Amino acid sequence: MQFRHEFLEKNAILLLVASLLTVAVGGLVEIVPQFFIENTIEPVKGVRPYTPLELAGRNIYIREGCYLCHSQQIRALRDEVERYGHYSLAAESMYDHPFQWGSKRIGPDLARVGGKYSNDWHFAHLRHPQAVVPESIMPRYAFLEETPLDYARIAADLRTDRAVGVPYTKEDIANATADIEAQTNADANHDALLKRYPKAVIVPSNGRTISEMDALVAYLQVLGTMVNFADTSEEQLRR
Ligand code: HEC
Repeated sequence: MQFRHEFLEKNAILLLVASLLTVAVGGLVEIVPQFFIENTIEPVKGVRPYTPLELAGRNIYIREGCYLCHSQQIRALRDEVERYGHYSLAAESMYDHPFQWGSKRIGPDLARVGGKYSNDWHFAHLRHPQAVVPESIMPRYAFLEETPLDYARIAADLRTDRAVGVPYTKEDIANATADIEAQTNADANHDALLKRYPKAVIVPSNGRTISEMDALVAYLQVLGTMVNFADTSEEQLRR
């Protein structure tokens, strides 16, 4: 055996071929199983695609670079879970393209900020954070309230998400504009909207032009609220 190994080690070409063979087997063992699992993310009940308004708000969140100060990822560590709530599940960001986990927390994590405050609190805070939290170093975003939301191409956004695997239906795409208008109108009939997107929070624009801030608040209000963690057992959470 020792002699044969010496023979291998003294033959550069042979050694190269044998090394490549060994690495190839190792690689295949790692890679091949991936082709046979349908999804590496376990589906969880309640996780749904964003409403068109939430999606528009998410685009503003990304455009304004909120992720530079805020993460959206609660780690399975005791102090994080006690502060922010249940640790984040992979499925909760399965429809995020790109995900907003972030890498910095100059401000708090936002993965479960939905429902923590009223819409009015968010408007006051975004307008002038120091008016609500005096020691805050968050910049003011009052201009978002004066900027009309441009949602002329929102259906294209839904279609693009669908191309990368978000299950928006033809009906969702056809109703994208109407859904934005329903989600910002307190007097509208919300049945169709809530059937398509359960738990969507209505952000009434009270007759004024729909603003970028309306969309951003709708997005913040849904974060972390889709999964009902009262269904505690893993079995119940699974879809
Ligand atoms: C320069 C860093 C910075 C940027 C950029 C920033 N924030 Fe903040 N944010 C903070 C800090 C610090 C706090 C904590 C103090 C406070 O509540 O204002 C905070 C708090 C918040 C809160 C309250 C969270 C809670 O649980 O109390 C929300 C919501 C929020 N930010 C949203 C946003 C959004 C949306 C954007 C982008 C439009 C944004 N932030 C941009 C620093 C930032």
